[in-house]
Amino acid sequence: MTQYFSKITGWGMYVPENVLTNHDLEKMMDTNDEWIVSRTGIRERRIISEGESTVSMSVEASKRALDKAGINAKDLDLIILASSTPDYLVPPASSMIQDELGAECGAMTLVAGCSGFVYGLNTASQFIRSGAYEHILVIGAETISAGIDWEDRGTAILFGDGAGAVVVSRTLQPGGLLSMSMGSDGAGWDALIVPALGTKNYPNHENIDRKEHKLKMKGRPVFKFATRVMSDATVDVVTQAGLTMDDIDVLIPHQANQRIIDLALRRLNFPAEKTIVNLDRYGNTSAASVPLAMIEALEDGRIKDNDKVVMIAFGAGLTYAAAVWQFQPMEVSPEDEAILVTNWPVDSAFQRKLQEMRTAAWKMKVQARTKASEASMAIMLPLYSFRKGLKKRGKKEDNQDEPKTQEDKQGQ
Ligand code: UT7
Repeated sequence: MTQYFSKITGWGMYVPENVLTNHDLEKMMDTNDEWIVSRTGIRERRIISEGESTVSMSVEASKRALDKAGINAKDLDLIILASSTPDYLVPPASSMIQDELGAECGAMTLVAGCSGFVYGLNTASQFIRSGAYEHILVIGAETISAGIDWEDRGTAILFGDGAGAVVVSRTLQPGGLLSMSMGSDGAGWDALIVPALGTKNYPNHENIDRKEHKLKMKGRPVFKFATRVMSDATVDVVTQAGLTMDDIDVLIPHQANQRIIDLALRRLNFPAEKTIVNLDRYGNTSAASVPLAMIEALEDGRIKDNDKVVMIAFGAGLTYAAAVWQFQPMEVSPEDEAILVTNWPVDSAFQRKLQEMRTAAWKMKVQARTKASEASMAIMLPLYSFRKGLKKRGKKEDNQDEPKTQEDKQGQ
């Protein structure tokens, strides 16, 4: 039976022109650039203007991806849109995109929070590798600004809008998706939630007055979940691919917070230079975050032919998804493909065993580092909270000592 592989043959991105900087936010709420940069790494984000939406951004990004792949919308066999902020709850935005592109294929919207694009890429690869489909468009697009409470500094500073799209095509060139992992921890379902936009708590005057149609987030639990799954899921996919982090050329993490990325890099002992970060310019664009980072890295040559790339994302649900992807060279003649296929794979049993041992030893090292880092966090956090409590109490007592009214002052 012919063995097919998935290959990213085209890509395109779209971000709104409108830039909202931390300094702009300072004028809108009680926050400041220094706090945002030191706690998140974010400096600015893009926000849609009138006429722009999840569908319009997706269509622009998709047209660029189709152009790059050198195919027509009619060549597509499936469209997968990953988004938690579609134009409407019904109909699925994916069908509106299909119509605007002029495609004649199935279309579906996948809702898996910020992990959506990696879920979509993993899903598309299955249809491609099975031989069922030849070209699938996978889009990650979000208009989170529409769901932001601009008085909530806990969320307003984090998010931005944008769209990234890739064409996944069938090929005989080995590579593409090497391994994947997808997970859900639904116990954390209310950590990131828009309480009044579904059927359980349909929007009405009362819940809108309470701003329940806007995004609510418990930052701390999401942070904790994120740091755990970033290293665990990466170890999982890298091990499944029979590799170690030394074999990985590029890491594309979900662009949520620089501190989450830094912690994962320390646990994985992976260099920052090989890690794609653009959250300083776009903030957290949820399902668009991994494709935007990937596309910028493809465009500026940081992802090169045959590079092995880890993608790892986490988000509402709570969900996570990871993959190891090998980027095949774009230009390959049919003859080259035939040669590559006959040579694949040529590992001897001995080499395979050696690689397995290398992978197992590496996995143990990362797990030990993660345990040590979690243990130090468990010790440091209560100390930090205790110190913070003392500071707060000290401030309160100082305030109580201060004379409050003219009479108080005179009385002293
Ligand atoms: O795609 C997944 C999306 N979600 C995430 O990735 C979120 C993960 N969580 C995080 O990134 C972090 O938890 C945040 C960036 C959201 C918050 O950082 P933190 O270090 O957990 O801060 P905190 O909420 O514990 O707040 C620390 C202090 C508080 O003041 P006090 O109580 O110490 O006086 C907050 O009131 O910082 C204050 N604070 C702010 N100050 C200025 C919170 N937000 C802000 C703000 N500007 N925007």
